[in-house]
Amino acid sequence: MAENYYYGSRGGSYHQPESGWGRGTGGARGYSQARGDPDTGRGGRGRGRGGGRGRGRGGGGGPPAGLRGRDIGLYYAQRQKESQRESRSVLALPSGEQGAWQDVLRRVSALAPTRPAMEGGHQFVDAWHQNIAANRRADRISTQPVNSGLTPQPELDESLQRQENERDPFSVMGLFREKLPAFAMRDELLLLIRRHPVVVISGETGCGKTTQVPQFLLEDALLNGRASTTRIVCTQPRRISAISIAERVAQERHERLGQSVGYQIRLESRLPRERGSILYCTTGVVLQWLRSDPNLTGVSHIVLDEIHERDLQSDFLITVLKDILPRRADLKVILMSATLNAELFSRYFRNCPMLNIPGFTFPVTEYYLEDVLEMTGFRIPSQSRKASDKPEPVWHKHTKRGKETARASDAFQDYVTPYIRHLESQGHYSRSTLDSLRLPESEEINHELIATLIHHIHAHEKSGAVLVFVPGWDDISKVNRLLTDDGPYRLRGRVKIFPLHSLMPTINQKEIFSRPPEGVRKIVIATNIAETSITIDDVVFVVDCGKIKMTNYDPKSNLATLKPEWVAEANARQRRGRAGRVQPGICYHLFTKSRAMTLDKFVQPEMLRTKLEELVLQIKSLGFGKVAPFLSKVMEPPEDLTIERALTMLRTINALDEEEQLTALGFHLSKLPMDPQTGKMVLLAAIFGCVDPILSVAASLTFKDAFMIPLGKEKLADEKRRQLSRGTKSDHLLLANAIQEWEKARSNGSNRDFCWEFFLSESVLRMLVNMKQQFADYLCEQKFLPSSNYKAKSCNRNSSNEALVRAIVCAGLYPNVASLKMKRRGPVRIPSLMTVTERRVSIHPKSVNASESDFKHPWMVYHVMMKGNSVLVHDCTEISPMSLIFFGESLKLKNEFLSDGTALESIQVDPFVTFNCSRETADLFKSLRAHWDKLLEMKIIKPDQTDWDTNRFEGAVIDSIIRLLSSSPIGDSVYDDDE
Ligand code: CDP
Ligand code: MG
Repeated sequence: MAENYYYGSRGGSYHQPESGWGRGTGGARGYSQARGDPDTGRGGRGRGRGGGRGRGRGGGGGPPAGLRGRDIGLYYAQRQKESQRESRSVLALPSGEQGAWQDVLRRVSALAPTRPAMEGGHQFVDAWHQNIAANRRADRISTQPVNSGLTPQPELDESLQRQENERDPFSVMGLFREKLPAFAMRDELLLLIRRHPVVVISGETGCGKTTQVPQFLLEDALLNGRASTTRIVCTQPRRISAISIAERVAQERHERLGQSVGYQIRLESRLPRERGSILYCTTGVVLQWLRSDPNLTGVSHIVLDEIHERDLQSDFLITVLKDILPRRADLKVILMSATLNAELFSRYFRNCPMLNIPGFTFPVTEYYLEDVLEMTGFRIPSQSRKASDKPEPVWHKHTKRGKETARASDAFQDYVTPYIRHLESQGHYSRSTLDSLRLPESEEINHELIATLIHHIHAHEKSGAVLVFVPGWDDISKVNRLLTDDGPYRLRGRVKIFPLHSLMPTINQKEIFSRPPEGVRKIVIATNIAETSITIDDVVFVVDCGKIKMTNYDPKSNLATLKPEWVAEANARQRRGRAGRVQPGICYHLFTKSRAMTLDKFVQPEMLRTKLEELVLQIKSLGFGKVAPFLSKVMEPPEDLTIERALTMLRTINALDEEEQLTALGFHLSKLPMDPQTGKMVLLAAIFGCVDPILSVAASLTFKDAFMIPLGKEKLADEKRRQLSRGTKSDHLLLANAIQEWEKARSNGSNRDFCWEFFLSESVLRMLVNMKQQFADYLCEQKFLPSSNYKAKSCNRNSSNEALVRAIVCAGLYPNVASLKMKRRGPVRIPSLMTVTERRVSIHPKSVNASESDFKHPWMVYHVMMKGNSVLVHDCTEISPMSLIFFGESLKLKNEFLSDGTALESIQVDPFVTFNCSRETADLFKSLRAHWDKLLEMKIIKPDQTDWDTNRFEGAVIDSIIRLLSSSPIGDSVYDDDE
């Protein structure tokens, strides 16, 4: 039985008729009970019984005579429903094989253990039960005091005190430090921290918060003989800053990393000594400690840096700290923020004291759109309104953000229009400028205006680099093209243009940071990445187009959105500040001064803009009890519906039970450093023996994919990705192939050429491979894998079984399922998707499936779906219906009756996925699925490497599933042999 089942879609409507059929052995094509034409897939029926009817039920003729008014409508509605039912995918075993499969099922059933072995005493079960108890306890608040774990060690205190006293106070670094604005506040700062458990410190970028504040605390402790009870931890939102700041501070202390200063980020660390030290780490690292040290007893001072960014993790940690503080009287919390929202944090900590460090940046002159139009003479063309400007759908206005968006467009009428009248009355601006400003188009991004302004700066202003902020990749590309292609906006003369985006290869170029040769002007076109993450020192001119690409999440539609929106005041200030780092500068805002008044003060916190599945899992695994009450303690709590969506999703994948406790599966998932769906994929990969490719997929989904998009070579890059996908019709298998090929290339030294050819980032690939190792270590530690070598043969028995690997991808991405149809657009056919909530979904042009026309199955799974101007799936994999049978939510057999009384038998996976399927076959699937569910439960509770012996229950179940999923090779990868 090489091919065990056939599937087809009714009427060939999903794909070319020929490709709608499984390849069969032994000549029988078509599904077993079908009576249609096997070569075309037409006319065959998915129903087991009921006989062949013509295609297009009710296609001819109108409603029966005698029907009137509303009944006619009902008749047509009913007819449409029936035709939808009939046009479902069909799932059937080939004729003659039903019996053989019944035998398999009987054998598996006979092997099934009567009672799963899950009594206590096992390490995993114990930990899991403890977690459940902790969550129950957490619902009762405990303020039992807990002391720091850092007990005094007088000898250590003395020796470190001596050492510190011997330091040279007049070193170059010492003198540099004294010049920083933070230095003047040193004593005040230390006093404040000594007196209060929580202090908020604010100050402009560069004033010395990150490098100096932890150092002040350390020096104070060392000099006063408190080294042994002092362990300072400073969190950073980004990996790269944790390392570079630690290096800098060690240098300032004339030490190497690993003495009194160190860093720790995921998968990488240079730890300092335990006591009398500073550790710079990412926020995630501290959250990880909480699992084993819930009161952070190993820490004396925790400094949270860059909290104004309001990323999910730091908002979460702040909430946790507020919870810990009543128990830890000796813990010091220092919150540091670059901009102006210090009050918000202070209020959250019962009006704790704030300290502002006055900054030192050079003055920056600000111009607004009205000035820019005036100085350049640019005229904004009036356009007929585009489709993208249509009003938002009604639901959007119900959300918090939706209301804000609506307010933003009203603001044009309320603020901008009166302001233009005011400008007119002043008489300083020309008619042409005023006419431009009156157009709503003046608030859209205008690439020609940006190019014109750059020309103006280059021609009329002194030397100095120009930094242009635009929302996204497209804008960078367009402005770059205007400036470099032949045409009216081509910038001649001595200029060097750098596009800067996290997906562009230039991100790694050192040249961006260095000063260009005398007389050459550097122009950097960037996204908000250049606001804080990347500092280009010699910038004197900033062009701020005022928009930022924001991901948002709408819990009503359960959909993420990605759209350019107005920046917050805090962003605009930060952008302005970038112009004054080395000398007085100029900032050109491409919005009016009146629009500036309407900007939100701060960016909406990430907690209010994303799905919360991962966070919910984290809350449960840390034992914080019921999720909604915990999240209500967050500074700006997320919407109830968002929390409810996350809980529902986690129940769907069986990570949480009805009482909102972690299931055994959920407990595993909460320990894996990835989103729960990806976690499930990884566990199944271990069980099914396809570890290497799936860990590649999981690492890429968790971190980012390694592909770059070089400007001007987009088409070639698309082509290369398609080539690497090897016809799999899967963006996920593409990721696995890319990593596999790179690993191969690395072993023969051709890795650089390989990356160059396929537009891959070597540093990302290196990170991904490290992550794969981390995942493998966990799986091995939990005994799911026999070896932590993810390349080992024993972990990859089935890695070359493409159908299986695809099914495991499906298992992980479920419930992100879409059905596929081909749409005709002119001479070409393009794929179009539909999901449970969205009727029309397109595939992102970057996906290898975007221009694919020859699919085998009408089903896809995806990882990211976003709503911009249209709804787009960013990445997808074609899957077989059989994958959904085993890895979907659950199976329900259904018996529907058509209006003429004939029965239609079907099998339902979830409300969106149903297949027409004969009762016998459906029964068989359901029984096998029940065995699989039982096996999975046993394996999850008592993790163990897979028993492949088909004479035992486990081996027999897994073997049947793999055979049903059918097989076709993915390639001939060679695995290390560890046996
Ligand atoms: O955190 P904040 O932005 O307030 O400043 P900081 O990161 O502590 O930096 C203080 C000063 O140290 C900056 O103005 C830089 O001149 C210098 N610095 C440096 O030269 N190299 C680094 N890697 C970090 C900071
Ligand atoms: Mg800083």
